[in-house]
Amino acid sequence: MAPVKSLSASVAQQLTSAISATVPEAAVDPLLRRSDRADYQANGILALAKKAKANPRELATQVVANITTGGVIKDIEVSGPGFLNITISDKAIIENLADRYADPARLGVPPKTNPGITVVDYAQPNVAKEMHVGHLRSAVIGDALRSMLDFTGEQTIGRHHIGDWGTQFGMLIQYLFEHPGELAPAEDVDGEQAMSNLNRVYKASRAVFDADEEFKERARKRVVALQSGDKETLGLWQQFVDESKVYFYSVFEKLDMEIRDDEIVGESAYNDGMPETARLLEEMGVAERSDGALVVFFDDIRGKDDKPVPLIVQKADGGFGYAASDLTAIRDRVGDLHATSLLYVVDVRQSLHFKMVFEAARRAGWLTDEVTAHNMGYGTVLGADGKPFKTREGETVKLEDLLDEAVERAAEVVREKAQDLSEAEILERAAQVGIGAVKYADLSTSPSRDYKFDLDQMVSLNGDTSVYLQYAYARIQSILRKAEAVAPAAHPELELHAAERAMGLHLDAFGDTVFEAAAEYAPHKLAAYLYQLASLYTSFYDKCPVLKADTEAQKENRLFLCDLTARTLHQGMALLGIRTPEKL
Ligand code: ARG
Repeated sequence: MAPVKSLSASVAQQLTSAISATVPEAAVDPLLRRSDRADYQANGILALAKKAKANPRELATQVVANITTGGVIKDIEVSGPGFLNITISDKAIIENLADRYADPARLGVPPKTNPGITVVDYAQPNVAKEMHVGHLRSAVIGDALRSMLDFTGEQTIGRHHIGDWGTQFGMLIQYLFEHPGELAPAEDVDGEQAMSNLNRVYKASRAVFDADEEFKERARKRVVALQSGDKETLGLWQQFVDESKVYFYSVFEKLDMEIRDDEIVGESAYNDGMPETARLLEEMGVAERSDGALVVFFDDIRGKDDKPVPLIVQKADGGFGYAASDLTAIRDRVGDLHATSLLYVVDVRQSLHFKMVFEAARRAGWLTDEVTAHNMGYGTVLGADGKPFKTREGETVKLEDLLDEAVERAAEVVREKAQDLSEAEILERAAQVGIGAVKYADLSTSPSRDYKFDLDQMVSLNGDTSVYLQYAYARIQSILRKAEAVAPAAHPELELHAAERAMGLHLDAFGDTVFEAAAEYAPHKLAAYLYQLASLYTSFYDKCPVLKADTEAQKENRLFLCDLTARTLHQGMALLGIRTPEKL
C-alpha cells in the first residue's frame, strides 16, 4: 500500500518552502500544531523574525503570499503577533482518510526507512518467587513499547532477564538434593500448582537453613557447585527453572501476553561470560580491587557520607552478582545481537544500578556513541490509600489474585450492560475488559509516575478507561452492522460538519502519534490520543446522524468515518496490548 503523507506534514512542507522563498537560507521549523482557532497554527515565524530583525507580522504576510491555497490548504491568515492560522480543505481531509482506509493493515503509516535494533529487557520475574505488581508494570509497559516500536519498523528483540541465579539457589537445591521427589516433573502441573510447590519447597528449605548450621554450610558449597557447572546440581536447578516457567507462562497467559521461550534469557545465561567480563574490566583499569572485591568507582556517585558508592562486579568471596550479569548481557546484546538501542523496563528504584552499569560499559567500550541505553524506570503501584500496594496484612499482593479480581469486576460491568450476549460471551468479554482495564490504567499515566491501583475507577464506563474505548469501538461495530447493505464510502465532494473535521484531523495524526510515543518511550501519549479519538467520536455521534443522514452520500461518508475510527481504535489498542471486542 502506498504510504500516506499526513496533512500536518504536507502543511509543514509547504510552509517550509514558503519560508525559504521569503528568507533564503533560513532553515526554520514552522512549529505547526493543532489549534482551536483554526485547524493548525504555526508559530515559527516569530523566531525567524527575531533572527532576521524583521517585523514578524510583515514577515508572516510575505510568507502567506508565497503559499498556494486551494489544495490541501484552504485558507491561511496572519493572526496576533505573527502567527499563521491554517484551515485545511474538507476535500483534502476526506481524500487523505480514504487513502488510509485503503490500507487496513497500517492505515497508511509508512515504516521508518532506516530502522535500528532495539533490545527490550522487560517482564523479568524471579525463579521460585511469586510475581507482584512491579512485574506487572514491566510486562505491560515493555510489551506495549515493543509493539509500538515494531509498528514504526524498528526491529525489536525481547530479553526476559529472569532472576534465576544466585546464592538462594544453593539452599533450594541442597534441600531438593536431600529430599528428592518434592518437585513433580513440570509437565504434570499447572501454573498455580507450580507456584504452590515452589513456595512449599522454599519455606521448607528456609526452615532447615535457619535451624541447621551444617545444612547452611552444605548449601553454601552447593552454590559453588552450581556456579562451576556441576551436572547434578544444574539438573536440580533446572527443575526449579522449569517449574517456575510453568507458573510464569500461566500468569502471562492471564495477562493475554505472548512470551517467547527463546527470549527468556535469564541471569544464568551470562554465567559463563562473567569471569571474562571481570577480567577485561580489571585489565582495562575500569574496575579495581577494593577489600578483595572487584568494583567500579564513579566520581559523581556518592553515598550519604560522601563516600563513593561502587558498582560491585565480583564479591570478595569470588561470587558474581547482579552487575556482572548485566554487564555481560550488554556485551552480548551489542556485540552479538548488534543492538543500536538498549531499553530496560525496570523499576525506577534500580535506576542507580543502571546508571552505573551503563557508565562502566561505556568506559569499557562495550557501549559506544552509536548505541543508546535507557532505563525506562517506572514508578510504584499504590493502593487506594496512596501507599505502596499491599494486602491488609501488609503482604505484597499476588499478581494472579489481582488479575482475577479485575476480571470479576469487569464481569459485573459487562453483565449489567450486556444485551444480546450469552453467558460464555460475557465471561470472554470480562477477561478482555478486565485485563484491558489493568493494562490501560498502567499505560495511560506516564510510566515514571506512581499510580493508584483502583479497580472501581479502572472498570468505570465514564472517563479515561479502556472500557470506555472498548465501548466506543463496539458501538461503531453495531452501527456498521445496522447499516446492513449500505457500505462505507468516502465522498470528498461533501462539506463536512465541524465535528467530522475535528475527528478527521485527529485520525490523520495516528501515525505521527505512534512514532512520537515510540521514540520517546511514552505509551501514555498513545493512550491519550486514543481517549481523545473516542471523545471526538462521541461528539461526532451526538451531532452528526449516521444512519439517518440527510443524503445517501452523507450516510456512506459517515459510515466511512465511523469505520476508520474503529480501525484506528483497534490498531492503537492492539499496540497497547488491549483487545477490542466486536460486541459489548
Ligand atoms: N529480576 C529483576 C527483578 O525482579 C529485574 C531484572 C531487570 N533486568 C535487568 N537486566 N537487570 O527485580
